[in-house]
Amino acid sequence: MEIVKFKRNISLAEFASTFFPFGIILIAALLAAEFKPNLNLHRAIYSFWASTVLLIPAIYLYILLGKLAKKNNYWLLLWTFSFLAYLVHLFYEVFGIYGGIQDFAADGSAIAVSKLILAFWWGLDISLARFTDSSATWIQIQRTGVHIYVGLSFLVANLILQAGFARTLGITLAISILVALLVRHNTRNGQDNENLPPGSYGLPLLGETIPLALDIHSFYRKRVKKYGPVFKTHLFGKPVIAFNGPEAFTFFLNQEYFTRENASPHPIKELLDWDTLPLLDGDEHRRRKRIILQAFTPEAFDKYIPSIEQTAAYYLKRWEKLGSFTWLTEYRKLSASLTNALFIGKEPGPTSETVGEITDTFIKGFSSVPINLGFNAYGRALKNRDWLLNYIDQAIGQHRQQPRQDLLGLLLSARSEDGSTLTDVQLRREVMHLFFAAYSGFYVALTLLSLTLAQHPEIAARARQEVKQYVPDGPLDMARLQKLVYLEQITKEIRRFYPINAATFFGQVKKDCEFQNFHIPKGWGAVAGIHTTMHIPQVFSEPQSFKPCRFAPENFAALPENSYVPQGGGPRDGHRCAGEDLITVLLKIMGVHLLRRYSWELLPQNLELNQDLFPTPRDGLKVRFGIDRQTVT
Ligand code: HEM
Repeated sequence: MEIVKFKRNISLAEFASTFFPFGIILIAALLAAEFKPNLNLHRAIYSFWASTVLLIPAIYLYILLGKLAKKNNYWLLLWTFSFLAYLVHLFYEVFGIYGGIQDFAADGSAIAVSKLILAFWWGLDISLARFTDSSATWIQIQRTGVHIYVGLSFLVANLILQAGFARTLGITLAISILVALLVRHNTRNGQDNENLPPGSYGLPLLGETIPLALDIHSFYRKRVKKYGPVFKTHLFGKPVIAFNGPEAFTFFLNQEYFTRENASPHPIKELLDWDTLPLLDGDEHRRRKRIILQAFTPEAFDKYIPSIEQTAAYYLKRWEKLGSFTWLTEYRKLSASLTNALFIGKEPGPTSETVGEITDTFIKGFSSVPINLGFNAYGRALKNRDWLLNYIDQAIGQHRQQPRQDLLGLLLSARSEDGSTLTDVQLRREVMHLFFAAYSGFYVALTLLSLTLAQHPEIAARARQEVKQYVPDGPLDMARLQKLVYLEQITKEIRRFYPINAATFFGQVKKDCEFQNFHIPKGWGAVAGIHTTMHIPQVFSEPQSFKPCRFAPENFAALPENSYVPQGGGPRDGHRCAGEDLITVLLKIMGVHLLRRYSWELLPQNLELNQDLFPTPRDGLKVRFGIDRQTVT
């Protein structure tokens, strides 16, 4: 409660909360001296300690000073009271120990001179702070100078010239200076504009990177719950603003304010080999993205569908024989075979499956400690990245000799509007990224499809009915898949309901801007929450319920812009996922083949999702699988 305003608008509450500690500390110091044999010496020592106690928060606040009036007021009050305690110390030293200013000055020691300079400069700075607005550059420079001077003098005096309790004070002062400098680094020079979004910068230097790495999904969920849709944090050595919810997501996609260039943390850039779509922006990103999207058209999918069906048939037969198995393990194999088949035309089976293991090791690099020791997770990820790049190089060579109609074949002949193509170096990197994106996207989505159909028999029954009605048998194509409207709703709800991706790739703020009255500073990192955006109850009622009807065509069309963003938002040639339609096609094809002929039941197990980058059931989805006798007569 503000009662009386002092100059510089220091409130009585601010004054009282610093004056009383000052009074108590100083009185305690002087009283303690009364019990000591050499009274004046101990008055000087203890008042110096009192001054140090007040200096510690004053210097901490000074290092972190920003535009907040309250912080400025507390700094000035503590700075002033520390100075007053110092004057008391000097008084007892000069008059109590030396017997007068002449004797003190006549002592001529460097310490005596530096103490007098210190007192004069400190007093001058307080006067400038009290009676000017302190905006002049020379005042700012001298203020930093006097803080360094006072800070160093107190450090030397407490740490080197004295022992015992003084040393504890010295260590505390040193630690508080260090912490303040680290926090200042974390917050980009102590940016504390009152209008920054709420949030925490976490630990000095590390920020909140560890909680993010431990569980990226609950990281965003917890913070949205605590701070609301826009919050600040500190990740990978940089302050970051996270945008959640349709409006915030749309703002984040505005290229006037945000760029992906140089925005991702170093390990992500290194793992993606520095130069792939998520790390690019502007014209070059658009050019490359438009070339790559030529392999993701309905016409291209019609070319891929036989390959998808062949791979599905291969594994379905295997599962029929196995009877019971862990589906996640099997879907990993299927996904590796499928990426190999779709991208570079390989047959499904064990050779392709090893590429999955290599991709898995590569993916682990994204959630590992990013130090390359060769043998550790990050080092192994980089080695496997290089293995994948070489593997793709070989495929490029083979495709050049013998052109094919798979994804790589399409990309080799694809051209942008200006007639340019991807160079081989660009192609190998992009296809390596596609291997990673597709492999993980495939097995996660397929596992969740099987889980969903097992957990919701009424939804599975309706989908089975639709399959029976429109595609009871025969090969599939895009036109036939189009008829499966309900199955498509299920595939959409899977991607909304489950936390497959926590957030987009990182962006960076291009220029100072504002969102909902929050200041968004230039140079900060930015990211948009995906799962959190799709769990906003105002858009998706009862977000924790699995309801495919949300995506009935009329409901889907009525959704606000960028509210359904499982694979990013904005236009296709922006940073939206290239594989969005392919994953729908794959889920529908697999759904058709499963529902046409099979049924499965979940075995006793833990179905909770793990904390992986792409979460799946902890026990890997153990099932008993076989021909559905009601469907296949
Ligand atoms: C369920 C499966 C998938 C999910 C949930 C998913 C999700 C995402 C997300 C969230 C992004 C980042 C968007 C952003 O930063 O704004 C992304 C980017 C991307 N995804 Fe996917 N993805 C999936 C499958 C695939 C597949 C199958 C492919 C390719 C075959 C693919 C290729 C890509 C590419 C190339 C990008 C980078 C786009 C760019 O920056 O221009 N994804 N995906």
